[in-house]
Amino acid sequence: MKVFKTIKSIHSNLLVINKSKSLGFVPTMGALHGGHLSIIKKAKKENDYIVVSIFVNPTQFDNKEDLINYPSTIDNDLKLLKSISCDFVFCPTANEIYDSKIKSESFNFNGLDQVMEGAFRKGHFDGVGTIVKRFFEILKPNKAYFGEKDFQQLQIIKKMVSINCFPIQIIPCPIFREADGLAMSSRNVRLNLQQRNAAPIIHKILIKSKELFANKGIETVKYFVEKEFENNPFLALEYFEIAEIDTLISINKKLKNKKYRAFIAAFAGEVRLIDNIALN
Ligand code: PAF
Repeated sequence: MKVFKTIKSIHSNLLVINKSKSLGFVPTMGALHGGHLSIIKKAKKENDYIVVSIFVNPTQFDNKEDLINYPSTIDNDLKLLKSISCDFVFCPTANEIYDSKIKSESFNFNGLDQVMEGAFRKGHFDGVGTIVKRFFEILKPNKAYFGEKDFQQLQIIKKMVSINCFPIQIIPCPIFREADGLAMSSRNVRLNLQQRNAAPIIHKILIKSKELFANKGIETVKYFVEKEFENNPFLALEYFEIAEIDTLISINKKLKNKKYRAFIAAFAGEVRLIDNIALN
C-alpha cells in the first residue's frame, strides 16, 4: 500500500498504471468504520486498483465545532486499509488541495442542494461538490463509490458528474448498519451510552414509516414520526421528509410510477445523525 500526501507524488504513481486497467476511488474523511471497509472491499472487487482519500474537508462544515470535533484516527485508518490490501491512499493537507484559499466553488445543482441537509447546513453541498470535483480531476478514476446513507450527497455528485461530463461511473453503496440497526457513521463514536442505546430507534422509525407509507397518507406518517421523537428524551428531530428520489422534492401526495425515500436528521445531544430508507 502506498500513501501519498502531495498531488505531484500521487500523480507520478498513478501515471504508471496501464490505461487499460481500471481505477476505483473511495473518498472518505477518515475515522474509518465497517461501512467504509465494505465499500472499499466492493471497489477492490470491481477494479484493478483502488485509491482511498482521507481528508476532512473544511469547506463542507457549516459548524466550526463539528469540524473541530470530527474524529481523526489516521494511524488506525492506515492499518485497516493495509489489512484489506488497499493500493493507494491519498491524504493531502488543506493547503495542498486549496492552496491559500480555503473556499468553495459555487454550484447550480438544480435545487437538489436546497432541501434537507442543504437547508440545514448552509454551503455544505458547495463544499462537498468542490472537494469531490477536485479529487476527480486529480485522480481521474473510472468508478467512484458513495454510500446511500448520504443519499442527497450521492444524487448531487451524480449531478456534478453530468454537469462536468466526467467519464466516471458513480456507484451507490447500500447503508451498512450495526447489529441493532444504527447506520454506521464516523460520528457514532461521539455518542454517550444513553445516546448510543437510543439511536437505533431512528432506523426502527424509518421501517415503521415504510409500513405506514404503504397504506396511509403522508400526514399520518409524519404525525407518527413526530410523536416518536417527542416521546424520546435522548433524540431531537431536525427534519423528517418523504421525497421523490430524483428531484428530492418532498411530497404531500404519492404519485404512481414515482420512487420515494424517507429521510431523517436528528440530534443525540450535540451529535447529528442522519438515515434514510427506500419506501417503494
Ligand atoms: O461522505 C463523506 O465522507 C464526504 O462528504 C466526502 C464525500 C468524503 C467529501 O468530503
